[in-house]
Amino acid sequence: MSNLPPLKLSQRWHYASEQAISFLMQQAVENTDVVSLAAGLVDFASLPVKETREAALLLLSDDASARKALQYGTTAGSEHLRGLLLKHLARLEGTDVSGLGIDRNRLILTTGSQQLLSLVCEVLLDPGDICLVAGPTYFVFLGNLHGVGARTVTVHTDDDGMCPQSLDAQLAQLEQDGQLERVKLIYLVSYYDNPSGRCLSAERRGPIVEIARKWSKHQRILILEDAAYRELHYNGPTIPSVLSHDTTGDTVIYTQTFSKSYSPGLRIGFGVVPQELVVPLCDRKGNEDFGSANFNQHLLSRVLESGLYESHVEEVCLAYRRKRDAMLEAADREFSDMEGVSWVHPHGGLYVWMSLPKRLETGFRSELFQAATKQHGVMYVPGELCYAGPLSERPRHQMRLSFGVQSPEGIADGMRRLASAVRAQL
Ligand SMILES: Cc1ncc(COP(=O)(O)O)c(C=O)c1O
Repeated sequence: MSNLPPLKLSQRWHYASEQAISFLMQQAVENTDVVSLAAGLVDFASLPVKETREAALLLLSDDASARKALQYGTTAGSEHLRGLLLKHLARLEGTDVSGLGIDRNRLILTTGSQQLLSLVCEVLLDPGDICLVAGPTYFVFLGNLHGVGARTVTVHTDDDGMCPQSLDAQLAQLEQDGQLERVKLIYLVSYYDNPSGRCLSAERRGPIVEIARKWSKHQRILILEDAAYRELHYNGPTIPSVLSHDTTGDTVIYTQTFSKSYSPGLRIGFGVVPQELVVPLCDRKGNEDFGSANFNQHLLSRVLESGLYESHVEEVCLAYRRKRDAMLEAADREFSDMEGVSWVHPHGGLYVWMSLPKRLETGFRSELFQAATKQHGVMYVPGELCYAGPLSERPRHQMRLSFGVQSPEGIADGMRRLASAVRAQL
């Protein structure tokens, strides 16, 4: 060690420190013989090797197109891919591009959808500003919010997603407390939520947009609709986005990703944002990377144009559906005789959200987590990570179980191990 004075890190780092995700990754590395129902990775077997190889060969077979792909791109991303994505989004919404009514310039390509989530926090939120979130919600986004010093307020959430009445009541309360001026954002995962697996019901989507508008008294309150799992749909109706209810295009930021439906390795996500946010987001993104991987954008364009994408998504959904069923069957088999244990039956996505009797804590330091990882060889994500606010006030008896990575047999094994661990605690 030299005798230089200690490092003086920024306040921004302080906000972002102690991320749960780092602890989870460390646990996974240290406990290699553990069956992980925690990892949020996607299914290895169905990763699109053949499709990507074909698209890469096509892209590189022509010198001019290869050079274009190997050059820098623009901050907002490939014009061509953005055009294709508008068509893609229109198809998901059950309309055509003119029916969608979204200008291509409102679409920004990002390095995974995670980058858009982070950029939105950076350009919108000052320390002390408020974002309303579902309870539970995507814990990495809670990290983004903390990372910019924002405050979080939890909105009651049930099997149909965030409750409009509760959202309205929270905003009324914030006004009464003189805090409405600090409210800038409402964040929700609209399809097969991470971690709860729940889908925001069709009936709630329009009212939530109306409520955001109603309370936009001092400044605009935006909705950040995270549709990361939209295309991982296994059964039940397909529902138009919250974005589709934003008829004036000034209230909803929509984000989606190709990480779950195609490949997280490509790191391609996109956002559709209100016109006034395009320049601020690109300014901020310019400071970070002045454009996401151009080569990958060209590659994905080829995949989309070839028709390989749609058949791949069908294949992926079949594989995940089997895994989802394996997890639900194992839950029935292993847990249905345990009083006070319940779980959500998701129609898509990658997660089953399980609640234990309230007295049974599931956090990293809990007896259950320690016994599960050290004695029973199974790991899950503690539910308390997925709530905002002080730990002492969060529900602490839930778990996020992922069926993405394990095979159906691995899932059955993991659930058996988890049931033994829970039974021992009961
Ligand atoms: C709800 C949600 N949003 C966003 C992301 C970010 O994914 P990516 O950056 O790979 O698009 C994830 C990743 O797991 C997620 O679960």
